[in-house]
Amino acid sequence: MADLSRRKILGMLAGGFVAFLTSPSAVDAAPTIRAGDTCKKVGRRTTSGGKTFECVEANGARVWKRAKETAKPQQPAKPAADGIKVLDSSALSVGKSENVVVSSGGRNFAVVVTRTSAGVVAFNRACTHQGTLVTVNSANQLYCISHGSLFNLTTGAVVEGPASRALTQYKVTETGGAIYLTL
Ligand code: FES
Repeated sequence: MADLSRRKILGMLAGGFVAFLTSPSAVDAAPTIRAGDTCKKVGRRTTSGGKTFECVEANGARVWKRAKETAKPQQPAKPAADGIKVLDSSALSVGKSENVVVSSGGRNFAVVVTRTSAGVVAFNRACTHQGTLVTVNSANQLYCISHGSLFNLTTGAVVEGPASRALTQYKVTETGGAIYLTL
């Protein structure tokens, strides 16, 4: 009888232990680590309670220590300017124009860049009449050889037809000794 009771008690204890191990609270509950608790492998890191700990050797013992947060990756440096570099600033004195070809999105754009007394301006060289490329003439205008249209060099406006629309203008940024275009 005493033997049976002992078996019963042992069975109940074992059943209770198994129930405890498989209960959601036992499975989910991770042991909480506190600084100073012993650890096994130096250098190992773990997170507990939202804090990061690292196993370190201290006074001959291996203990968890609050780890310094890993530095966030730095954002890449912003480019010096928006746009595409087309010329060095030194290449364009006041009153001077340069024809450049700018590649963007798999296309090439013929652009005339001019430094005026008020700053640098840039226009697409395609004549708005039928697309012939304009060039700077001796009167400092943009001239189309096909049908004679003339455009203002600093504003792109039509001076003389048959073209009726101004040349396409691009945003220019000048910084760090270079000229950039935004197409
Ligand atoms: S294409 Fe330029 S004026 Fe006709």
